[in-house]
Amino acid sequence: MKFDVLTLFPAMIESPFADSILGKAVERGVIEIRGHNLRDWAEGRHQVTDDTPCGGGDGMVMKVEPVARALADLRQRTPGTRVLLMTPQGKRFTQNDASALSREAGLVFVCGRYEGFDERIRTLVDDEYSLGDFILTGGELAAMVMIDAVARLLDGVLGCAGSALGDSFSDGLLEYPQYTRPVEFAGMRVPDVLLSGNHGEIARWRRREQLRRTLERRPELLESAPLCAADRKMLEELQKAAPDA
Ligand SMILES: C[S@@+](CC[C@H](N)C(=O)[O-])C[C@H]1O[C@@H](n2cnc3c(N)ncnc32)[C@H](O)[C@@H]1O
Repeated sequence: MKFDVLTLFPAMIESPFADSILGKAVERGVIEIRGHNLRDWAEGRHQVTDDTPCGGGDGMVMKVEPVARALADLRQRTPGTRVLLMTPQGKRFTQNDASALSREAGLVFVCGRYEGFDERIRTLVDDEYSLGDFILTGGELAAMVMIDAVARLLDGVLGCAGSALGDSFSDGLLEYPQYTRPVEFAGMRVPDVLLSGNHGEIARWRRREQLRRTLERRPELLESAPLCAADRKMLEELQKAAPDA
């Protein structure tokens, strides 16, 4: 899958993906990540990409024409690619979005800087995404976070097939607690059930702990999580045991 990032700072983009799991996916050609300098589509000797706000005010606003030319080019290079604007005013990015976006032919991320974009840039993109209710200096970190979340869902990226399936949010709940050796540390023991070798019991314990953890930390997720009758029964028991959760 091809990830193109339109930015004023292309050098920021590639090095975070040079190591570890995503680095290997790049090496193997499963994913391709490119930073494109918006200035390459700007006109004139000074290749200006921003200007002062109409109506006055502080800061600079990113101009529409270089972005329009760049997007026309990038759409032509990867037909069917989806163009995403990074903006705190967009839809909050979730794991469901990562999963849906992992089925696209390619993704183009448009990164703002300064005071943000000329409003007309919004008409040139397919979606607007925010990382959360806070303001970053630029869209590059948001794009890189989204690329990481999408890329790890692609076939052939994670070493252990299926290991993304149990992650928090992938089935609507938080993940169960994980342990590794030693069995005891500072008086804290790994739960006996995980050492029992009884796979049925382990699966039941993990499901109950997923429900417990979600109830304690993110109860709103339970409203939309797909729960079966056995889940609902466990949840009722947990709610009775901790009525304030
Ligand atoms: C300083 S911000 C501009 C914020 C803009 N003045 C506003 O209030 O909506 C510069 C750029 O950083 C990026 N950015 C900032 N916060 C973001 C967030 N929470 N999610 C995604 N992108 C963000 C966007 O690309 C934005 O255009």
